[in-house]
Amino acid sequence: VKKIIDNIHILKDETIIENGFIEIEDGIISNIGESSNNKANTLALDLKGKRILAIPGMINSHTHSGMAALKGAGDDLPFEQWLFQTIIPLEEQLDDEMIYLSTMISQMEMARNGITTFVDMYMMLDSIIKAVDEFGMRAYICRGLQDDSLEDGQRLQKNIKAYEKYHGTANGRISVGFGPHSPYLCSKEYLKKIADVAQELNALIHIHLKESQKESHQYTFRELANIGLFNTQTIAAHCVYADSDDIQVLKEFNVSVAHNPSSNLKLANGIAPIEKMHQEGVNVCLGTDSVSSNNSLDLFKEMLLASLIHKGETKDPQAIPATVSFKMATSNGANAVGQKNIGLLEKGMRADIAFLDMDNINLFPLIRPISNIVYSGRGSDVIATMVDGDFIYYFGTYPKINEEAIKKQFMEKYVKLYK
Ligand code: NI
Repeated sequence: VKKIIDNIHILKDETIIENGFIEIEDGIISNIGESSNNKANTLALDLKGKRILAIPGMINSHTHSGMAALKGAGDDLPFEQWLFQTIIPLEEQLDDEMIYLSTMISQMEMARNGITTFVDMYMMLDSIIKAVDEFGMRAYICRGLQDDSLEDGQRLQKNIKAYEKYHGTANGRISVGFGPHSPYLCSKEYLKKIADVAQELNALIHIHLKESQKESHQYTFRELANIGLFNTQTIAAHCVYADSDDIQVLKEFNVSVAHNPSSNLKLANGIAPIEKMHQEGVNVCLGTDSVSSNNSLDLFKEMLLASLIHKGETKDPQAIPATVSFKMATSNGANAVGQKNIGLLEKGMRADIAFLDMDNINLFPLIRPISNIVYSGRGSDVIATMVDGDFIYYFGTYPKINEEAIKKQFMEKYVKLYK
């Protein structure tokens, strides 16, 4: 059945179409533009008569959705102490049920903030995939991999099995990739093994690179390129300490950088050379990282920070303008995962859409849309979010799940985790 959303404002490039409509068929935008006169056999979706602006659903290019139970854990600690003494010991206690529930909670927060796609790195993929399948988001799910434990080999095998079983399922909403944690938790031999497998399967690689200062002299991106790590679609999170040579490698191998300004600031890792990467033509996208290093899953906040911190850092008010931050959160994210039919509102694209309440006073009067969204907007301006033409968030509710039951089960397990 054809669906239609009528009488809305639509963000088209950098301007607004007033009195617009979006027609959706089989999860795809089949028509979009100024008011439609062909409404035969269509199901009108109700947006409660509000003044609404439709924008592309946002793409969270780096997160760990299974970490919802670790929100606030280890706040304000030094990076190494935060990771090795707080986060990892807690993670060892998480079971498949808790990962499932945490992924549900994280998706609620993302959907509530207009995010429709996320790129994940975590463990227990069966639980994550079950949660994504039920909730209705689009996700690139990568198994966190490291070879410093007895499990070596098993994790990669599990990742390959998950790829074979789930890649392309849920009407194409679920993609499986590979998530080698970082060069400091993966040996070169292990990285090569992962790179070879990912290349053979043509799968995404999602890795943390040069996040902290300690890593700045441990390896070069050229060395990683030489073992074949960048021969497949790759998202490198952070790259805070990427030097000029590293940036050239990113460009040469078309590696996308997931910029996580909140996380880098909170963990005191610093400010990534994003303006330089942008000038060099590197594809930069935006991520939230996890709720224990951010602590929220809101790309409005990341867009704002991205535009602000690079101006401050470079002393150049023209650095990372709002239009660039907005692209990082939308179309650049689509480029990063190599999916050409998301990140824009156009005919033929998947109907992944966020709807903003234009009367929210912080956005009002919303005359300069991109500038207002980036500098004045926040996640709470979103009143509905859809993926493939289905609402996953709708006026305070999550139509596909039982929110109360999930929160209750989550709390029961949460209390035990910290006992
Ligand atoms: Ni991360």
